[in-house]
Amino acid sequence: MRRSIAELCGSDHHNNPAILARWLANKTPENFTAWIAEKDNRMFVAVENDAVLAVGAVRTNGEVTLNYVSPDARFRGVSRAMLARLEATAQAFGNDESRLVSTETARRFYLSAGYRQVGAPEGKFGTTSSYPMVKRFAAGDERP
Ligand SMILES: CC(C)(COP(=O)(O)OP(=O)(O)OC[C@H]1O[C@@H](n2cnc3c(N)ncnc32)[C@H](O)[C@@H]1OP(=O)(O)O)[C@@H](O)C(=O)NCCC(=O)NCCS
Repeated sequence: MRRSIAELCGSDHHNNPAILARWLANKTPENFTAWIAEKDNRMFVAVENDAVLAVGAVRTNGEVTLNYVSPDARFRGVSRAMLARLEATAQAFGNDESRLVSTETARRFYLSAGYRQVGAPEGKFGTTSSYPMVKRFAAGDERP
């Protein structure tokens, strides 16, 4: 996840060390362990052999809080598969929609996955733009 932010999200942090430091500050093994343990959180990894290719998390209220792919696995459909899993989990908890705040880097990806922007862009960690987005699940979408 730290590599994903540092190496892939240049459109957001513009290699500004202060922004990157703020963004990475809470991405520690201790915090990760706590996020996994949170009872309203569900966290997933995509794995190939011994390598973790991506990590994603969704809250039981339908909020997607993490979706990061390894730079070694970009553009292989891993994030698309991860997002499908996160959305299926949100639906399984009875949500009609999922919400997230997208990076500039991932904005096009989410638009093509059916999300729309809601409200004004926010600045996170000093980045220029983070986009609140929502996707309403179609009535016929399958539940897992
Ligand atoms: C943008 C990102 C989220 C896409 O994830 P991915 O696993 O690389 O993407 P996938 O393989 O699942 O495919 C998704 C998109 O990549 C495009 N793509 C696939 N191969 C590509 C290639 N060789 N070159 C450029 N784009 C390509 C696909 O066309 C698709 O775009 P579209 O949906 O607009 O058509 C990811 O690459 C990324 O940069 N993540 C950084 C972390 C981040 O910002 N996470 C979001 C936090 S909210």
